[in-house]
Amino acid sequence: MPETTDLDASLAAAPWWRQAVVYQIYPRSFADANGDGLGDIPGILSRVDYLASLGIDAVWLSPFYPSELADGGYDVADYRDVDPRLGTLDDFDAMVQALHARGIKVVVDIVPNHTSDQHAWFQEALAAGRGSAARERYIFRDGDGEDGSLPPTDWVSVFGGSAWERVEDGQWYLHNFAKEQPDLNWDHPEVREDFLTTLRFWSDRGVDGFRIDVAHMLTKDLTEPLPSKDELALIPQDGNHPLIDRDDVHDIYAEWRRVFDSYDPPRTAVAEAWVHPSRIHLYASPESLGQAFNFDLLEADFDPDQFRRIVSDNLALAAQSGSSSTWVLSNHDVVRHATRYGLPAATRSNGWRPDEKHGASWLLSGGTEPELERERGLRRALAATLFILGLPGSTYVYQGEELGLHEVAEIPASERQDPTYFRTEGAEIGRDGCRVPLPWTASGSSFGFGDDGSHLPQPAWFAESAVDVEDADPSSPLNLYRRALRLRRELQGAEELAWQPTDSQDVLRFRRPGGWEIVTNFGESPYELGEGRVVLASTPVTGGMLPGEATAWLAP
Ligand code: GLC
Repeated sequence: MPETTDLDASLAAAPWWRQAVVYQIYPRSFADANGDGLGDIPGILSRVDYLASLGIDAVWLSPFYPSELADGGYDVADYRDVDPRLGTLDDFDAMVQALHARGIKVVVDIVPNHTSDQHAWFQEALAAGRGSAARERYIFRDGDGEDGSLPPTDWVSVFGGSAWERVEDGQWYLHNFAKEQPDLNWDHPEVREDFLTTLRFWSDRGVDGFRIDVAHMLTKDLTEPLPSKDELALIPQDGNHPLIDRDDVHDIYAEWRRVFDSYDPPRTAVAEAWVHPSRIHLYASPESLGQAFNFDLLEADFDPDQFRRIVSDNLALAAQSGSSSTWVLSNHDVVRHATRYGLPAATRSNGWRPDEKHGASWLLSGGTEPELERERGLRRALAATLFILGLPGSTYVYQGEELGLHEVAEIPASERQDPTYFRTEGAEIGRDGCRVPLPWTASGSSFGFGDDGSHLPQPAWFAESAVDVEDADPSSPLNLYRRALRLRRELQGAEELAWQPTDSQDVLRFRRPGGWEIVTNFGESPYELGEGRVVLASTPVTGGMLPGEATAWLAP
């Protein structure tokens, strides 16, 4: 028997999330059990074997709550129920039980910045009229101009257009996202109390953790006179900005932390916070949410200098907060990374949805201009995936990336759903292309997604990447992910890495505490690996040469 070291003991005692692989499910596009074209909770239940076969530690479910789907479910009408089109609470419990039985934890999405306009509170606010207590739960103001017919300010919503919407009696309400997503007033004690109830509700049902949507925007200082859009842009985001990343948001999370820690094991949380790197540690601190997404790789090119800087910076940031870092290459808000890496790198980025750099023009052309290098994009994507899976910290995998799926560009305007597309009158194409239902089988109705179509159109080329095809092919992306996740369990040790010198500017090489080495060749010419036993590679290694745009894992 090998001796147990202090290191083994401290790793065994480490909370599960610190180095977890979390698989993001976008429930409406995962699997449809009742044949209505929308994925559902019984669909997820029917695929638990598949999820277990991946070797993941947890799933994170994007919202499955009752919703009018004005923003893909991020417009929540009831935080403590399941959308009837997606199932019931009993179905949810059965899913949690089945996942737990396979050792898979469950993380759900909490959307606290705004409700749906269909939420009972908002309906009550509309009915109760101006000056009512019900309106206090949201941010209602009188309009500007003599008759109040102008919005209170010229603020612009994140999805485009005015951030204010007028209601029948002439008042306006604030919505930082779609008009169907009124912002809540977090100064209101009932709002605070209700979210504590929601966190307990899901924790009591066995949920292991929470992903907190736009965690940096809940609290606001709306002291009159309100600044203009231009004035807002000049105010530093140092904790006192009127709308973004205010220090007082952490008072909320300190209360949430008490709820999380009242469970055994403590419930976890990860913040979606688009804030300056110097402030991310506040969200990741153990007194606040405990972990925060690091989105730097969503914005980076396939470039060794950018990757190395991002890794070093984020490991330092994680150390600063006492949390572990998170690594994300794709999610439901961005162009899939296989596609990003197959398009020419441009220079501009707005960070979180299709823009020039990440393929907006390609999407707007329906996938024709500029030309997508499909194979190259996938080759680089798999290399990048094996690179991040070798890093200390936790990794988020977005459904379909394990199949090597590309973004779907060919969605007709009439079938688009994302509010960004409509609110910018088509100038921004939106995020539908990464939310197309998964192909499970190469043939059959909606590629095995469900019996009666799919709510976003699937392209013919999905057949090549269907789960049944990739399952049967040992060299498929799916089987590469499976092998990587299995091996990752062996290489995981202390949350450390040591960069190794290489004699090529195109190559990054790092060593993990157990002696494992991860080598990524970002260039095009093959690279001689030297000593070490190759146990995994994104492109086959022959004669000790790592091909261009590939990653290899070397065992000690
Ligand atoms: C987050 C979600 C995104 C949603 C937005 C508004 O950024 O990831 O999908 O549209 O919040 O809730």
